[in-house]
Amino acid sequence: MSGKHPTAVAQLADLIRDVTGNLVPETRFDFLAEVAQRRAHAAGAPTRAEYVRALAAGELQREWESLIPLITIKESYFFRAPQQFEAVERQLLPRLLRARAGGGRRLRAWSAACARGEEPATLAMVLAEQPQLAGWEWSILATDLDEEALAGARRGLYGERAVAQVPPALLARYFTRRGKLFELAPELRARIDYRAVNLAQPPFELPEPEYDLILLRNVLIYFGRPLQSWVMAHVTPLLARKGALLLGASETLWQIQDELEAIDLGTCYCYRHRRARPSGAPPVAATTPGATAATPAPVPASMAPAAAAPHAAAATPSAAPVTPAPATAPSSGRSPALPPVATAARDDGAARPRSALEMLLAAAHELAANRLDGARRALDEALAADPSEPAGHLLDGFLHDLGGRPEEAAASYRAALYLDPSLFQPRLLLADCLLRLGRRDRAEHQFREVLAALEAGRERSVAIFDELPLPDRARALRRCRQALKGG
Ligand SMILES: C[S@@+](CC[C@H](N)C(=O)[O-])C[C@H]1O[C@@H](n2cnc3c(N)ncnc32)[C@H](O)[C@@H]1O
Repeated sequence: MSGKHPTAVAQLADLIRDVTGNLVPETRFDFLAEVAQRRAHAAGAPTRAEYVRALAAGELQREWESLIPLITIKESYFFRAPQQFEAVERQLLPRLLRARAGGGRRLRAWSAACARGEEPATLAMVLAEQPQLAGWEWSILATDLDEEALAGARRGLYGERAVAQVPPALLARYFTRRGKLFELAPELRARIDYRAVNLAQPPFELPEPEYDLILLRNVLIYFGRPLQSWVMAHVTPLLARKGALLLGASETLWQIQDELEAIDLGTCYCYRHRRARPSGAPPVAATTPGATAATPAPVPASMAPAAAAPHAAAATPSAAPVTPAPATAPSSGRSPALPPVATAARDDGAARPRSALEMLLAAAHELAANRLDGARRALDEALAADPSEPAGHLLDGFLHDLGGRPEEAAASYRAALYLDPSLFQPRLLLADCLLRLGRRDRAEHQFREVLAALEAGRERSVAIFDELPLPDRARALRRCRQALKGG
């Protein structure tokens, strides 16, 4: 903990992690201090320290209900990641209907971090539109940690921004305008059962023993990796044998668990129990924890040339989209080995825990020195300490790229962009990754996005990895133009 923040704030961060699973990195401690100040005042506690003490001792009745909305991220809207809902409609539902046709024609879905209900209501619209579901008994369990958000979900009133992606025909059919707001149709709300469930405190008390469809989107990203594994260990048995799990578009189960396997649905992935895979659907490659590529792996064209020969690359960008890369990381040949990654020496010689940022820099340092195992170890610890740092996910993507795991690399770059969409380097690396995965359309879209941001001067860059050959603006511009010409 830095000396700038009083211990009470660090204690509050620990308490929030223990109770809700959400990690509050030190970079957000100023914000947390303000929240603690406000809540202490509202709760009648004379100081922040007294507030935190009373909260920890369970003396503040219902205080968590007020605190949780302030410290969790509620970003959500209808038809978020529309490709997933399209896949539900076109690919997952037909299979589920076949599986369930003989057994009472019941279908159960669970939206496990539903925010203000945008996600389960979107699913309800998709299901309500299915003629094959006529006469079926279907329902959606919608859970969240945040009682206030659940109360909002039950009211079913949404602003324009939340409904902006709803197709006009569905907007007309399932919403009633109430002044500036849109009210969700009661017949859809009647299909949804809203309940408070804290994913960080399994086992979960749910009304059904299993669910055909589980949406666990954009919530694991706020937890440390051990908790992610723990949550998945409890979610997996709740997924029906032939059911499907959807994570957020930037999330993956790589290194979290391998009981479920990722199935490529073309525009997105779902996870299924291993034995339930239909004969035609290919599993994605290398989801085994710790798997490393035995042969040199391709790395992004935007990164590899500089890694191999920094000066030459700056003058002549690679003409090939896929550049053979070293099996190991670029070496500066001058970096001494670091001490074990989780601790650092204090002035008095004693070990103190490293901060997430220090571990991240240690990971970059290890990578620059060609020590991939050390880099992976440091990075895992950095991400466990602070999964909300985009630079960590960027590095994660790069390590996956080096290990020959482009799917995982793409997911990590997406995670970085989820956390900060204005960063151009993860977007450029994602574009190259998509090219190598044969998804030229989507790659070109990303190249165009990078180009537009660079040309308009509204891009941001990851500044902390001095030792790594991340593409700079000039190289990124060249790479985008080259790629968009077909290179
Ligand atoms: C970014 S929103 C995601 C909403 C929706 N799933 C989506 O993808 O649009 C994250 C949600 O996770 C919820 N959340 C955070 N920690 C949680 C926990 N321990 N248990 C259940 N929900 C949690 C937050 O309250 C918030 O509503």
